[in-house]
Amino acid sequence: MLPVDHYTGQDALLADRLGILRRTWQFIGDAASLAAPGDYLADEIGGAPVVVVRNAEGGLAGFHNVCRHRAGPLVADGSGNCGEAFTCRYHGWRYALDGRLRAATDFGAAADFDPRDFGLFPVRVETWRGLVFVNLDSAAAPLAELTAPVDAAWGPRLPTHPLTERRVHRIGCNWKTYVENYLEGYHLPMVHPEFDADIVVADYQVRIEGSVVFHSAPARDASVNAGLWAWLWPNLAINTYRHGFMVERMTPVGASETQLDYFYFFDPARTAELAEMFLVSDRVTAQDKQICEAVRRNLDAGIYGGGVLSPKHEQALVWFQARVAAMSGA
Ligand code: FES
Ligand SMILES: [Fe+2]
Repeated sequence: MLPVDHYTGQDALLADRLGILRRTWQFIGDAASLAAPGDYLADEIGGAPVVVVRNAEGGLAGFHNVCRHRAGPLVADGSGNCGEAFTCRYHGWRYALDGRLRAATDFGAAADFDPRDFGLFPVRVETWRGLVFVNLDSAAAPLAELTAPVDAAWGPRLPTHPLTERRVHRIGCNWKTYVENYLEGYHLPMVHPEFDADIVVADYQVRIEGSVVFHSAPARDASVNAGLWAWLWPNLAINTYRHGFMVERMTPVGASETQLDYFYFFDPARTAELAEMFLVSDRVTAQDKQICEAVRRNLDAGIYGGGVLSPKHEQALVWFQARVAAMSGA
């Protein structure tokens, strides 16, 4: 197992951000919210502020959200439209949407200053099924390599629906504690006793393909769930429902603090069934929050020094931990 101290403290957080989150495809939002030129999405990826923008040619471009003058932000986190250029919020330098410095506003004459040396730092952007991902590693393999097993396994079973709702949850544990909880169905009978009314928990299966962990269980007739889940390395899940799906990003915002960003894509003709789906989804999240925070308290207490993983239920954790160790040096 991973050393316990890799679940606590700032050193482990930094190692995970640099070794994993800045070297992998990170979901940032839905492409439909970037419809018009100048529309942008800004967020923190692996602790680094980034922005993705729709340019005049209709393509997407990504940059670190940091001005080359004195590190001001180009835009505030969130979404908006920046017009035909970014205007830094600190001293007003303007950057074209391809990253070139167009105007060092009121800078004054400086003999050795060439604006061509001060373009924005680019980041890679790719899309899959209307979902926008960024990668801070310019040498990373294409996004399609990550998502190929989902296309192969689910194909058209993953429908196209508009973004219906976003919900954000905070969980007081290391992000890996939450991911590991997600990667096994072993805890379902104890932590989610109601789940068995929805799916056949005894037939819960987990399988790994490429960098994707698939979970499945037969859904009962009245279930709001569709009984299929996919988790994509290192921190994204797609949870399917009978009438839609939810994309779940699991982001470390501190050594012992994880933010869950839920993006619900739901069939517009089935909005009457949304309330029941949210009831189930919110209840499951609250139950996982409670158990993950209790685990965090015990990891912090320092008595537990490592355990054992079930060959029947926890093989995805073995796989996940080995990959974490290889990439973050744990
Ligand atoms: S930091 Fe951006 S203009 Fe000064
Ligand atoms: Fe759970």
